[in-house]
Order: sequence, then structure tokens, then C-alpha cells
Amino acid sequence: MAHIISITNQKGGVGKTTTTINLSQALALQGLSVLVVDLDPQGNATQGLGVPLKSISLSVGDLIRDRSLPVSKVIYQGDGIDLIPATPLLSRVEREMVGMTNSELRLAQRLREVQEQYSVILLDTPPTFGPLMNSALNAANRLIVPVDSGYFAMMGIKELLAETEVIQSGTNPNLSVMGYLLTLADNTKIAAETWDGLVCGFGQVVFETRIRRSVKLREAPALGRTIFHHAAESGAAQDYISLANEVVQRLGISVPSSESAASLGGVR
Ligand SMILES: Nc1ncnc2c1ncn2[C@@H]1O[C@H](COP(=O)(O)OP(=O)(O)O)[C@@H](O)[C@H]1O
Ligand SMILES: [Mg+2]
Repeated sequence: MAHIISITNQKGGVGKTTTTINLSQALALQGLSVLVVDLDPQGNATQGLGVPLKSISLSVGDLIRDRSLPVSKVIYQGDGIDLIPATPLLSRVEREMVGMTNSELRLAQRLREVQEQYSVILLDTPPTFGPLMNSALNAANRLIVPVDSGYFAMMGIKELLAETEVIQSGTNPNLSVMGYLLTLADNTKIAAETWDGLVCGFGQVVFETRIRRSVKLREAPALGRTIFHHAAESGAAQDYISLANEVVQRLGISVPSSESAASLGGVR
């Protein structure tokens, strides 16, 4: 059964999508079968994995809306990474969800249908509290919380944890925080202070890996490529490999032998 990890922080621009794209590829390179679910109507993870929004006929919004639609029809198959994409249609679906019964449990129900086919399912989430983020928190068993190295970085974490606790004590008792991840790390004083604040507040729940600020990481999504296609030798690629190692260790999963590891494929 796949571990379902939601990459979540209601603050925008903290590296959720960048982490979803590159962690998925780093896990696939270890030979794990990975499904990415894009839950942001902006479709950044979809495009960053090389799938143009115009080419999409069915997306995650259709899956939430239409319970008779087979999940397999919405999965774009890649080499080691599969994708359930998002398009701007998802914002309309999110508005409709407000009037649907148990709408925030639907994604969880749908993913159960494919959970046995993957080792890891990664959910990229939008930068707002709402039905889509709640859908992710209900579907996931683990959370990765990216935290950028900036002045306001720590301020929203309390609200996120409060939101998580509501879901834990209600519809999804299986949810827990797997780790806090420092992103956009550089040599500034504020980055060091954010790191200290995280370690002081959350101890070993903070990933040892810090994702450094990297021009290559910024360039890659515009080309529809992961960092491993764009700049495999870069420090940022190393950072995501190191994060993948920590994730595998924290999940307690054994990786397949290196011969069966996926080659660089992506979703295309
Ligand atoms: N480590 C990094 N180094 C440089 N740029 C980054 C890094 N992580 C993210 N970015 C860039 O910062 C912006 C926001 O990142 P993104 O992953 O889209 O955040 P979110 O999904 O949380 O809104 C994007 O332009 C992205 O390319
Ligand atoms: Mg994003």
C-alpha cells in the first residue's frame, strides 16, 4: 500500500511544487513507483512534470466530481512517475465542493482504488485553506511542510498545525507530520535563524536536508523538466536525493535493487 504524503503549507512560494516535482523524481530514481497528484488549480506541478495544460482532457477535478469515472482514465503514465494532473477547472470544482456531501473525503476514497499500485503518492497542494487542502489532509497519512528561509516563514505553521489537528481528531486519525523542510536556503542570517527556529520548535521532525536556493531549480519547471533532467550534477539535485533518502528512511520502506531503478523518464 502506498504511503500518501501531502506537501503542504498555506503560504505560497515556499517550494511545495518544486519539492513535489523533484522529490517524486528522486524517489523514482531509487526504483520506487510514484504517483503525483496535483491539487493546485494553477497546475504548476503538472506543467513542471512536462505535461502541457492544453493536452489534458481529464484531471483531478473530474475525479472528485464524478464518482463513476475510473481513476485509471485520469492517470498520465510516465517512466517511474505517474501523474493525476490539475487544470484551472479545479477552482470551479473547489467552489462546487462546498455544496457536496463529504466532498472533502472523496479524493481519499478515489486514491484508495490505486493505492496498491504505488510505493508513494505525493500530493501537491494549493496555498490556501479550503476544500482542496482538506481533501489532501484527509487522503494523506504523512505531511511534509516546506518552510522557506524568509522573515515570515514560521508565522503560519501554528495555523497549519491547528488545521491538521482538526482533521486528525475527526476524519483522518492516521495523519502525522513526517517532517519540516527548510527550502530556499542560503547564507543569510535570516536563513540561519529560520533553521534554528525550526530545530528549536520541532527537533528531529525537521529534515536534516536543507534545499539550497538554486537558479537551476528555478529554471527547470519552465522547461517541463525536473532538476535531474536539467542539471543532474547540481547541488540542488543532490539536495533532493538526500531528501529522498530521508523520506525512505522515515517511511521504513526498502528500495528495490539498483538494477530495477527507473531511468530518467518523467511524465511524457
Ligand atoms: N530551492 C530553490 N531555489 C530557487 N528557486 C526556488 C527554489 N524552490 C522554489 N523556487 C522557486 O520559487 C518559486 C516558488 O516555488 P514553488 O515550488 O512554486 O512554491 P509553492 O508551490 O509553495 O508556491 C518558483 O518560481 C520556484 O521555481
Ligand atoms: Mg505550488
